[in-house]
Parts: sequence; C-alpha cells; structure tokens
Amino acid sequence: MDRDLRIVPSGSFAAAGAEVLAGAIREALTARGRCELALAGGSTPRPVYRRLAAVHDLEWTGVHVFFGDERAVPPDDPESNYRMARRSLLDRVPIPGSRRHRIEGEREDLDGVAAEYGRHLPDRLDVLVLGVGEDGHTASLFPGSEALEETGRRATVVEGPRPPVRRVTVTPPVVRSARTIVVLAAGRHKANAVLRAVEGDVDPRECPARLARDGIWVLDRAAASRLSPESVRDRPPSPPRGGTG
Ligand code: 6PG
Repeated sequence: MDRDLRIVPSGSFAAAGAEVLAGAIREALTARGRCELALAGGSTPRPVYRRLAAVHDLEWTGVHVFFGDERAVPPDDPESNYRMARRSLLDRVPIPGSRRHRIEGEREDLDGVAAEYGRHLPDRLDVLVLGVGEDGHTASLFPGSEALEETGRRATVVEGPRPPVRRVTVTPPVVRSARTIVVLAAGRHKANAVLRAVEGDVDPRECPARLARDGIWVLDRAAASRLSPESVRDRPPSPPRGGTG
C-alpha cells in the first residue's frame, strides 16, 4: 500500500504540517460538524502548532482538543504537553476551556486519571497528531511496553525511559480507531525510527510508531533520509485523505 508521505525541506516543515492539520480539521468539520482533535506533545509539533494558529478562515468553534499523552506534571510545568500546546496553539485560537480536554497529570491518582480520560475520549478521534521518538515510540507507547497489548482500556499509565517517567497515554485501540492520523517527524535523528515505522515489517511491539503506518506522515528530508526510493518517489501533493481506520 502506498504510504502517504509529505516530505519537505526543513524550512517548509511547519507550514506543511499546518496545512495537513488544517485540511484534516476542515474535513472533519465538513463531514460531521465537529472535530475531535488529539494533539501530540514533545517539541516537534511546536512550530507546526504556531503555524496552524495563524491559518486564516479555520473554523475553531467545532473543534474539541484532546491529548495523545501527558507527563505526570502540573499543566504549567515546562515538561507539560498541555503547556506546550497551550502556548503554541490553544491560547492563540478561540478554543475555550470547555473544549480543551487535557489529561490531569498533576493528580496523584494517575490510574484514576487514565480511567476517567479513557471514558471521556470520543469513540473515534477525527484527527490524531503523533510524534515519533528515536526509539520508535509514539504518544507514550514505548517499545516493549505492556500498554501495547492493551485492548480494553483506552488510556493507561506507563513508565517512560526518561524523566518525567510516569505518564498517561492513549492505547493502541484509540490509535487504530482514529479517522485520520498525522505523524510529525523532523531531523536526522528520527530517520531510523521513521524507516522502521514506515517500511518493512517490524512488530509494533518493537516500534510502536508502526501503529500510525497508514497515517499521513509529514517529514522533513532529514527524517525521510533513510526511506527507500520507492517510498520517497515524488507524488503530486494531494489533500488529506479520508479516514485511516
Ligand atoms: C511526549 C510525546 C512523544 C513525542 C516524541 C517525540 O510526550 O514526549 O508525546 O511521543 O511525540 O517523544 O518528541 P520530540 O518531538 O520532542 O522529538
């Protein structure tokens, strides 16, 4: 199956990511009158979110924002995924608190937080934004994690390999049921993880980003640098496709 790869010069990465996200949001609003959007954390999305906030004529009133994962920190902590999204996007567009559904990583009872969040998530996300770690993790689904075997719960508590260690993450059923997945990856240090996620037949338990294999991958040339010529062959830019699942 052809992968949907949008490979751009690093200088165009933020604009390309914003264009794909704006298109996917518009598609959901047109089809269903609302968009259940789950954001990725980390640092890669930051310039993309800033650019998305500047997109004209994007109708935010029907957009509900969720998160793919969150660290066990307060929402104003520099490590908070919510804080990153709030500063780069949410405080720049008309999304009131009632349509911001953050994971309350600051609470002691993280298992309770994960259970509540799993129940609060929509049956299917319209747009799920994901990043990729150098080890192939996505959201906070790390290689070898028991969370990768989860089939019931839609969010769970995990321990990551680096601080902040404790996190809440969505589980594979939530990734698989998302209508559109948009993966953002930039930099040569991601090239191996992108290769393992997009090509070949690596087990998602070893490379959780494979769960997003059929999504739209927005890559700069460095992150795409290990992909085969077949994967990278030029295709005319196309608008975001319909659902992935
Ligand atoms: C997180 C993210 C995580 C991130 C990758 C890539 O909480 O850290 O959800 O999955 O997307 O670790 O992070 P960078 O974008 O910082 O490289």
